[in-house]
Amino acid sequence: MQIIEANFQSILPLWQKELWPGRDDIEGYSWMKFGGGHYENFYNPEKKFWLALDKDKKVGVISAHSLPDQESIRIRGLWVHKDYRRKNIGSLLISQAIDWALDRGVDSIWTYPRKEAWSVYEKHGFVSDTFWIEDEKGLEHCYASKRL
Ligand SMILES: CC(C)(COP(=O)(O)OP(=O)(O)OC[C@H]1O[C@@H](n2cnc3c(N)ncnc32)[C@H](O)[C@@H]1OP(=O)(O)O)[C@@H](O)C(=O)NCCC(=O)NCCS
Repeated sequence: MQIIEANFQSILPLWQKELWPGRDDIEGYSWMKFGGGHYENFYNPEKKFWLALDKDKKVGVISAHSLPDQESIRIRGLWVHKDYRRKNIGSLLISQAIDWALDRGVDSIWTYPRKEAWSVYEKHGFVSDTFWIEDEKGLEHCYASKRL
């Protein structure tokens, strides 16, 4: 298993099939603001995508992008193939995003994890900053962040 840097086109089919089936508006970054609401003005963040590969097979994905505040990084789109879970791949992908945020010298990194993914983030020192919030599909999320 190896983790490689990838581009949006190579990870998009995984996001469409596995993470957000039925969504036709998936972009390489999110307009969400930490704690609620959205950025209204166009911004063009620096975006990173990483894939976990078993030989040629794509078995995991994560992304991270900068934000207009320039003080934090958002993690987004973590997914690990069912047959490859509980082998620390999700954790390695999160570490990759954290390392990138550290290199950029930002103060914090945040995410909007599903409840089922929470323990992996918690292990990395993320703290939940809100209660669980149910989305339109019935999935629960919270805003969670880690100081760097
Ligand atoms: C959430 C997700 C990414 C986690 O990926 P993963 O590769 O299984 O994560 P890790 O292996 O790093 O850790 C997950 C758990 O496995 C445990 N684990 C890791 N190696 C283990 C081992 N050898 N034996 C037993 N447990 C192990 C970890 O301790 C952790 O356990 P915990 O949840 O009880 O704390 C994956 O389950 C997934 O893709 N879920 C569906 C999509 C999703 O929810 N994505 C997140 C959107 S925010």
